[in-house]
Amino acid sequence: MARARRGGAAAMRILVVHGPNLNLLGEREPALYGSTTLRQIDAQLRALGAELGVRVETFQSNSEGELVGRIQAARGQVEGVIINPAAYTHSSIAIRDALALLEVPMVEVHLSNIYRREPFRHHSTIADLVDGRIIGLGAQGYTLALRALVELAQARGRRQPPMEKGVRRQLANE
Ligand code: DQA
Repeated sequence: MARARRGGAAAMRILVVHGPNLNLLGEREPALYGSTTLRQIDAQLRALGAELGVRVETFQSNSEGELVGRIQAARGQVEGVIINPAAYTHSSIAIRDALALLEVPMVEVHLSNIYRREPFRHHSTIADLVDGRIIGLGAQGYTLALRALVELAQARGRRQPPMEKGVRRQLANE
């Protein structure tokens, strides 16, 4: 809204993608993942988004194809992505390739500290693709990610598009 207030520009849009089994947060292994439900996490993100003046869209699926489809559909539609690919973190080249299509800042989130767990959870197919990672801080990792992502996306917005700036300067000189 802050952004909408300044010069009437449309609010920044942030997509939050949740992978398989995260729909069961709250009931699922609470010692590892905490007691906050996905619905509560999404509500917290939307509330923080309203405070920061950004529109937060959330999506969860247990299917790799649906996750790829949602990420593809975000091309040109969002200014940033938060993603917890859950188990697909460790295996999905398809999700990595879909994210690589989006030229926007991205933050990877994991509720648990994957490096304190089984070795197969130590590898992430997207670790080098994302701008940053928040791992092991439970549900608050998502709100931290949103704050960081909005900063990143705003900084990127200020830097570009260079052509538009040039045109603006030219017009000012005319
Ligand atoms: C997870 C960690 C993954 O290894 C696991 O498969 C999940 C959740 C996390 O948020 O800690 O489903 O991504």
